[in-house]
Amino acid sequence: MKDALEQIRASALASLAAGGDEAAIEGLRVRYLGRKGELTTVMRQMRDVPPDERPAMGALLNQIKDEIEARLGDALALARSGVRATRAAERLDVTEPGRRPVLGRLHPLVQTMDEIVDVFRSLGFSVAEGPEIEDDYHNFEALNFPPDHPARDMQDTFFVSGDLVLRTHTSPVQIRVMETQRPPLRVIAPGAVYRHDSDTTHSPMFTQIEGFMVDKRITLGDLKGVLTYALQAVFGSATAVRIRPSFFPFTEPSAEVDIGCFNCSGRERSCRICKGSGWLEILGAGMIDPNVFRAVGYDPEEVSGFAFGMGIERIAMLKHQIDDIRLFFTNDVRFLRQF
Ligand code: FA5
Repeated sequence: MKDALEQIRASALASLAAGGDEAAIEGLRVRYLGRKGELTTVMRQMRDVPPDERPAMGALLNQIKDEIEARLGDALALARSGVRATRAAERLDVTEPGRRPVLGRLHPLVQTMDEIVDVFRSLGFSVAEGPEIEDDYHNFEALNFPPDHPARDMQDTFFVSGDLVLRTHTSPVQIRVMETQRPPLRVIAPGAVYRHDSDTTHSPMFTQIEGFMVDKRITLGDLKGVLTYALQAVFGSATAVRIRPSFFPFTEPSAEVDIGCFNCSGRERSCRICKGSGWLEILGAGMIDPNVFRAVGYDPEEVSGFAFGMGIERIAMLKHQIDDIRLFFTNDVRFLRQF
């Protein structure tokens, strides 16, 4: 019996030393001191102990019971103080300073787009949108690209299915607006466009802003005046604007519009922005072709108009001197935080 008591003592003290939460300690109390506990069971065998050994055995039993009870008390106190410490740590401290929320900011392309849209709004232009999945008719045919005409190759098209394409430019919005509205019109149409094209200055998805104005007696002079005002608002009031002949199927005559290099004003042969030419190509434009007016049911003898289209990435790259278009789309916050 003595051996059994010593074994219980050793195992109880070892379990209690290992500690645990309140439930675990209560489990140990039941295991050793409960009604069917190990020590209680031994106690019941007392009557089998020879009478002369009983006092010593009784004393040992009481000593072990006292010891286990004392350690149970200690272990319980320890478990409760741990819970209290955790609860105290979780308490709401209303005196703590608040955490500053992390503020996001607009993407540099959105900033550039908003700036340009605001300039045209101030001139009375309204904003229109069109679908990014466009049919061949609006993306090409109504814009005077005949079927199989080589001009279609100017824009590397992503075909969707049947006669649907990912729009290659925002010019189809001209058609959609003119199909549903009558002149006078002053409209800009910002949005995403797609071309099978990818390098440091070309992206398969990029952003354009289309603009057009249709009324009686709109001339090339109006085109030049409006674009000069807008480009000087975006790039600075001293910016020179130049118009060169070009070709687009949907405008006649067509033009490329350049601005004077804001970095060197044409004075530096080694300028890394204009490569010494003194000029930066900014947008395509022209007087709306009579065939486009016919496609939307306008009489080209009665109305005339100009249209233009610009790439937002190109303008943002020039403004911020960014040399790789992919930086706009990889979403590296170290890049984005600079704007
Ligand atoms: C057009 O897309 C014509 N729709 C513009 C226009 C509208 C002309 C109305 C006349 C009247 P173009 O293909 O040149 O034109 O593209 C216009 C601009 O989009 C380019 O100057 C360039 O800045 C930008 N661009 C073209 N391809 C890409 C590309 N893959 N990645 C980024 N920007 C591009």
